[in-house]
This record gives sequence, structure tokens and C-alpha cells, in this order.
Amino acid sequence: MPSDSQCRVCGGTVREFFDFGRQPLSDAFLAPESDPGQEFFYRLATGACQDCTMVQLMAEVPRERMFHDAYPYYSSGSAYMRTHFEELAKRLLATELTGDDPFVVEIGCNDGIMLRALAEAGVRHLGVEPSGAVADVAAARGIRVRKAFFEDSTARQILAESGPADVIYAANTLCHIPYIASILTGVKTLLAPSGAFVFEDPYLGEIIERTSFDQIYDEHFFLFSARSVQAMAARYGLELVDVERLPVHGGEVRYTLVHAGARTPSGAVRKLLADELTMKLAEPETLHAFGTGVLKIKDELTSLLRELRAEGKRVVGYGATAKSATVTNLCGIGPDLVPFICDSTPAKQGRVSPGRHIPVRPPEAFADPYPDYSLLFAWNHAEEIMAKEQAFQESGGKWILYVPEVRIV
Ligand code: SAH
Ligand code: TYD
Ligand code: ZN
Repeated sequence: MPSDSQCRVCGGTVREFFDFGRQPLSDAFLAPESDPGQEFFYRLATGACQDCTMVQLMAEVPRERMFHDAYPYYSSGSAYMRTHFEELAKRLLATELTGDDPFVVEIGCNDGIMLRALAEAGVRHLGVEPSGAVADVAAARGIRVRKAFFEDSTARQILAESGPADVIYAANTLCHIPYIASILTGVKTLLAPSGAFVFEDPYLGEIIERTSFDQIYDEHFFLFSARSVQAMAARYGLELVDVERLPVHGGEVRYTLVHAGARTPSGAVRKLLADELTMKLAEPETLHAFGTGVLKIKDELTSLLRELRAEGKRVVGYGATAKSATVTNLCGIGPDLVPFICDSTPAKQGRVSPGRHIPVRPPEAFADPYPDYSLLFAWNHAEEIMAKEQAFQESGGKWILYVPEVRIV
């Protein structure tokens, strides 16, 4: 039964609009011999705040269960994303970091994909990253990393040790943090008077428009919009002054927050807010239609996979993404339909996927021999992966995509 919850931003009532049911932790790849009875499950459901419009999960998974020493997501696995973050680092150097001895703090620096370029440029920096193995990779690259969860107390410590930050940055991390009140309080404390808090995350508008329901899983607690971020910033003495749409990870927005009144908001903010009103982004009918769209994709994808199995075709998964946990567990896709998933991450290989226990194998297994079809779970990296696996297509292989609709290419 849907029940209301309390908004983690404003305390208002969050009304549920879609229930994904029982789900495992999206990045908990298991050793094949591990006891399935020990696997952790929770109810994944999304709701929207009736007051501030923030879309969020109805229940929170304890952070230590998700982000720990064996967290297996390594940001630098994609060449496209490496370029994306290098470009941002260059831009920050040319814009926000031109003062005397600037200082940058990154929340969730992971393996150092973004800070690397700033460290090489000699900029004073600190990455805050609780997941041990990925933080070690960043440290090995010469990046200053603190193995900790960023929150209010961390911000105060950093301020005392290193002084105010000219830039606080977070990519695909702020949306992971249900205790966001503590983060924004910390940002308000640590940010220099003329500093900028820049963060980028999957955009609610894109998720709704493209029915990219697999962006919803335990780690993605919030689905931000310009409207909800603007309201959130205001509660903490901050102000949304810029937005930029990004093509990465299926469509994101990069938000810039500053101390309230410090800068004039850009025309891009006004435009995105107006677009969100036009598309009725957080209105009940839009959210309801999204749910209907998800169920349609679920039906079409499971029918397609069953038909292909009946025809004796081989289908292999590509990209053991966190997103794939939502797809496989919502749709009931197990090794009977997709016998294995190829993935380039050593920490995932030799393990089985959360919930449905599909084995994960290295990309070399893909060509041995090529399957008839490949279900592209890492659809956000389609261009990079399809270019890399051109020989698959040349062998007659076809890709199956399911966002924004189920189709074969
Ligand atoms: N910025 C990278 C990593 C995103 S994955 C990128 O865009 O690719 C999210 C990261 O946030 C994980 O590495 C996780 O360990 C980290 N994280 C989660 N909660 C955090 C917190 N409270 N403070 C800092 N990092 C956090
Ligand atoms: P990604 O879609 O970035 O994130 P999430 O796990 O949050 O949904 O994950 C991409 C996965 O795909 C990651 O496990 C690495 C893998 N991958 C490949 O196997 N080959 C590739 O060429 C690329 C770009 C990614
Ligand atoms: Zn709210």
C-alpha cells in the first residue's frame, strides 16, 4: 500500500507515485558461492513532495551498506566521461579558480576522474570519498583524499584546516545523499563568500521525458529539477544562479549555487524553470503517466526476451550497471533470459548481479562467440560501447535498447 513519507528537504508530505517493489542494493555484486539468504532487499518506491516538488525515494538505505571499501563503481571506466570531467576541470581553472591560491573540495571524488586534472595543474584541493578502494585509486594518482562521508561536521573540519573553498563540486553524488540538509549546511559553512557550489546529477525532466526508469535505484535518492533545487537552495541561504543541460548519463543538469544574493541568476535558470512548468514536470498526471510508461517497457522487454529465447537466440547483457539492477529485478530477468553480462570492471567480474544473480564476465567473453543480441544496460555509454564493439554488429549482432522505448538496432 502506498504510504506518505516526509520530505528530506522541507519536511512536507511526500506522496508515492511508483512502486518498483522488492529490490536488492544496485551495486552489491555477490560472490557466486555467497549465501543468497544474506542478500539485502528493500522496497524501492518514488514519491514527490507536495510542498517543494522534490522527487525522492520513499525509504532510505543506510549509507554504509552502499558506500564501503568494496564499492565497485570506478568512474574512470569510460573514456567519454574522462573527457567530460577534464573539460570541466579546464573550465573551472579558467573561471572560478583564477584567484590567488584557490581551493577546491570535491564531494564523492571516486577514483579522481575530475580532481586529477586540477591536482596536475597544482591547484589546492581535497576529495572527500567514503568508498575505500576507489579513494585509494585517487590517492595513487596523487590526489589528496579524505576517506569520509561529507556532511556538516566534515565541512567544519575542512574549513578549520584549509580555509574556505572557492569551489565545492559534486558529480553524481549529491543525489545519492538523503541527509542533504547536513550537506547544504556544510556547504554554506565551507564556501568562500564569492565561491560556487557546482553539482551535476541525472535530471528529472529527462527521466520523465525518456521514461529512463532505471535511473531510479537505492543510490539515486533524489531526482532533481531546477524548481526543486531552487527551493532547496533557498532554505539554506544559497541561491541557484546557473543551470546547464549535459548529455552524459542519459541527460543531466549541472547546477551552480552561490551564497544568496552573491550573483545574478542567468537566463538559463529562468528558461529551465519555465520549461518545467510547461511540461508539468512534477504534476501528479505527469508522474502517473511515467508509471504507465514504465510498465509498458517492462511488458515489451520481457516479451521480447521470451520470444528470442523461444527462437533459440542468444542474448548477452552489456554493462553491469547499477541501473541494470532496477531493470532485471523489476522485469524478472535472470540467467534463463540473459545468461551473462559483460563488464570491463574487474571488481564486478566473476561475481553475480544483485537479486537475479546473472554472472558478470569480462568483455572478452562477448566475442566468444558473439551472441545474436546484446541487451545494452549501459545505454548511457551507447556511443562508446558500440564503437568499441563494432565487430559485433559486423558479425550480424543487434543491440536491444529499452529507453525511451524497447527497440532493436
Ligand atoms: N563523481 C564520480 C562518482 C559518482 S559515484 C562520478 O561522477 O563518476 C558516487 C560517489 O559518491 C561514490 O564514490 C560514493 O562513495 C560517494 N559518496 C556517497 N556518499 C558520500 C558522501 N556523503 N560524501 C562524499 N562522497 C560520497
Ligand atoms: P554507468 O552506466 O556509468 O553507471 P551506473 O552503474 O551508475 O548505472 O556504468 C557503466 C558500466 O558499464 C560500468 O560497470 C562499466 C561498464 N562499461 C563497460 O563494460 N565498457 C565500456 O566501454 C564502458 C564505457 C562501461
Ligand atoms: Zn519538500
